[in-house]
Amino acid sequence: MADLSSTYLGLPIRNPFVAASGPLTASLDSLKRLEDAGLGAVVLKSIFEEQIELDGMTALKDAESYLGHTDGYEFVKATSMEQQIDAYLGLLEGAKKSLAIPVIASINCYRDGTWLEYAKRFIDLGADAIELNYYVVAADPETEGREMEKEFLQLVRSARKSIDVPLSLKIGCAYSSLANLLRRFDEEEVDGVVLFNRFYSPDIDIEHMKITQAQMISSKDEYALTLRWVGLMSEEVRYDLIGATGIHSADTAVKLLLAGAKAVQLCSVLMKEGVDSVAKMLGDLEVWMKKHGFKDIEAFRGKLAKKYKADGSEWIRVQYLKTMLEAQRM
Ligand SMILES: Cc1cc2nc3c(=O)[nH]c(=O)nc-3n(C[C@H](O)[C@H](O)[C@H](O)COP(=O)(O)O)c2cc1C
Repeated sequence: MADLSSTYLGLPIRNPFVAASGPLTASLDSLKRLEDAGLGAVVLKSIFEEQIELDGMTALKDAESYLGHTDGYEFVKATSMEQQIDAYLGLLEGAKKSLAIPVIASINCYRDGTWLEYAKRFIDLGADAIELNYYVVAADPETEGREMEKEFLQLVRSARKSIDVPLSLKIGCAYSSLANLLRRFDEEEVDGVVLFNRFYSPDIDIEHMKITQAQMISSKDEYALTLRWVGLMSEEVRYDLIGATGIHSADTAVKLLLAGAKAVQLCSVLMKEGVDSVAKMLGDLEVWMKKHGFKDIEAFRGKLAKKYKADGSEWIRVQYLKTMLEAQRM
């Protein structure tokens, strides 16, 4: 039997399939099902810095008519925020008590701020690691890329200073020099980076001419960008690179591992096919390893990373000329 065990941000895991933050990691029942189904670790549904602040403001608005004192405003705002944090702490505490696999708390933040306080409380309750989901859309034409990246690095620096358990960042791909940014995360001593988050995107309903939300669930073909960047960077940084988005099968997971990913995160496939689909993925991974004579994950992980290829250009311009020539012949 092949040994599927690995590590994730330095934590031992029984296999490299990790449940990504999402609806399935938002309740204790579901977390238990994920563990029973065989996942190696779970990342809890994110607590949203923005949402907490917004709820605090909504509570204030609702209480406006009967609050006559400025201290009262602060009290209502803080109480509403505390309720959300308490609910999250309850989920984390339950998960830590009931699960044997690593439980990672996730914070969705958009600036250096109060969320650091939540992180400390999650660590006190036993969170095995913290995943920071940094969500910023560079939509301001006045702001230079350099400025945005400086802000992000500042946030990472503050986080690293106060988070003394493994820390990972979950990021999008829209940066002007992603390779440079990933290298700079190394200087900040993070333990892992999840490539890439899949943000909610807008779409348009042309019948009613209104803005809607694009498909929430990923498709099985969406892993190409992740694969490229894992392949390019896995040997350039000391931390773990974790593959995410569009990983719906063992075959895709194997590709990511060959490119150098330490593990993969799954969300859409578990929502679409059910959590038990992970059993098939684990079985398929074992069959593949056996067929190719690999006893454990490290025996093949990173085999196709850029550094180990004589010419790493395949990861940058994959068969570009060949494709162009083929297209011309059509
Ligand atoms: C309904 C839904 C809710 C999600 N909520 C979160 C969240 O709270 N925090 C987070 O970091 N990612 C969240 N995600 C993103 C997933 O963790 C994952 O990164 C993304 O869906 C891409 O992976 P996939 O292709 O396996 O779905 C959510 C995804 C979905 C579909």
